[in-house]
Amino acid sequence: MNILFASSEVAPFIKTGGLADVAGSLPKALAAMGNDVRVILPLYEGISQDWRSQMTYLCNFHVHLAWRTPYCGIFELQRDGVTYYFVDNEYYFKRSQIYGHYDDGERFAFFSRAIIETPGHIGFWPDVIHCNDWQTALVPIYLLEERHVVPELRGAKSVYTIHNIEYQGRYGSQVLKDLLGLAPGYFNEHMLEYHGDVNLMKGAIYAADYVTTVSPTYAQELQYAFYAHGLEGVVADNRNKIRGILNGIDTELYNPANGNGLAAAFNPDDLSGKQACKAALQQACGLNQDPDAPIIACISRLVKHKGFDLVTSSIHDIMGMHNVQMVVLGTGDWNYEEAFRHAAAQYPGRFAAHMMYSASLSTAIYGGADLFLMPSEAEPCGLSQMIAMRYGTVPVVRETGGLKDTVWPYNKFTGQGRGFTFANISAHDMMWVLHEAVDLYHNNPKAWRGLMHAGMTADFSWNKSADEYLEIYGWITGK
Ligand code: GLC
Repeated sequence: MNILFASSEVAPFIKTGGLADVAGSLPKALAAMGNDVRVILPLYEGISQDWRSQMTYLCNFHVHLAWRTPYCGIFELQRDGVTYYFVDNEYYFKRSQIYGHYDDGERFAFFSRAIIETPGHIGFWPDVIHCNDWQTALVPIYLLEERHVVPELRGAKSVYTIHNIEYQGRYGSQVLKDLLGLAPGYFNEHMLEYHGDVNLMKGAIYAADYVTTVSPTYAQELQYAFYAHGLEGVVADNRNKIRGILNGIDTELYNPANGNGLAAAFNPDDLSGKQACKAALQQACGLNQDPDAPIIACISRLVKHKGFDLVTSSIHDIMGMHNVQMVVLGTGDWNYEEAFRHAAAQYPGRFAAHMMYSASLSTAIYGGADLFLMPSEAEPCGLSQMIAMRYGTVPVVRETGGLKDTVWPYNKFTGQGRGFTFANISAHDMMWVLHEAVDLYHNNPKAWRGLMHAGMTADFSWNKSADEYLEIYGWITGK
């Protein structure tokens, strides 16, 4: 099967969130299963010289973007059995941030046209074009047209994956002709039209041959207004072609047994190295050197839907638990950052606030902490709870989206489970299970080790989910 995978960010080249991790690991898994997989992304300013020096120039052409004909260069890089194409246009992509510009709509409309036109210039004809989130939502729509124009694309099908329905790409109706170059017929309620505007994600859900989202529970939740952010009707209308497939993680990259980035390596059968990681973390964060203090960690963007109202309103209750330490890593809304900085000043030696992004510190935290707190209000999949479990850090999560699908609650009668969960968006309910978790940590080390072991040995690889994607590709292409 020929698969063209399109994403606005791809790890390890450029990353702001979980989408990049998925785009960096799913294609690799599909390629390992014998498919010809090519990944296409913009050549941003932020892609390092190291990567650039490994690229080769392939070709250039002018993209058809309504009345504009912007330049498009294609650079290629091979890695882990996958071919990567980088779309070069310095006017659109030579900027310090990858998102957040006044003309993001135009930038990603250009990228989407480049995705559709690239096959014709490089001679790679995809059976499936797999697109992700609002930035590439126009591709399934352009494909409807292109199938009639380019004979080699006649059989090509599109899959569209929703990683987060909150960001939909909504613009005034004037963009339809002037920017997107689409005929007025596309501006109808079963395609792009949304309350008088153009909504790219809505259009993709209608136009794609199949739609997936990143966990079975999130697929269910999208039927409700609370989760679907206005697209619940669109989801309901298309429910026959929507399915939730759980993300995997790169289990080679996130592997405590290889010791990368850790003070010591460890594995499910020999946890002694985790003690050294914990001591190193306490040292690095200025926490008291105390092997018996449970360390609760948060690593996240600090925004409301990640559940930080629950955390910041409970700081004193958390710190009131027996001998607890806490470390928070991330950046985001000022009010959360301030609350954590304040807590660090109030609880010296017990509370560490790192209001920044740091890959190396995050590995040290996954490796050295005991509990991972992730009380998201909504979480399409969530990858960090899986990474935490790989490192024997026991998760405490709200039962939503992928958190519900990956963190099975501890059963005190059978000892089974992988972590602690609560159902309602309630600080009280969160504290209830945190108390249970901390009590278990202090008073039942054997049960605690059982939880660590269950998380560390769980299968979070792509094997099963990549198969599910292949099954969908098979259905829609008949191959
Ligand atoms: C988005 C979602 C997150 C998911 C990731 C990868 O970042 O918010 O829950 O894990 O995409 O699909």
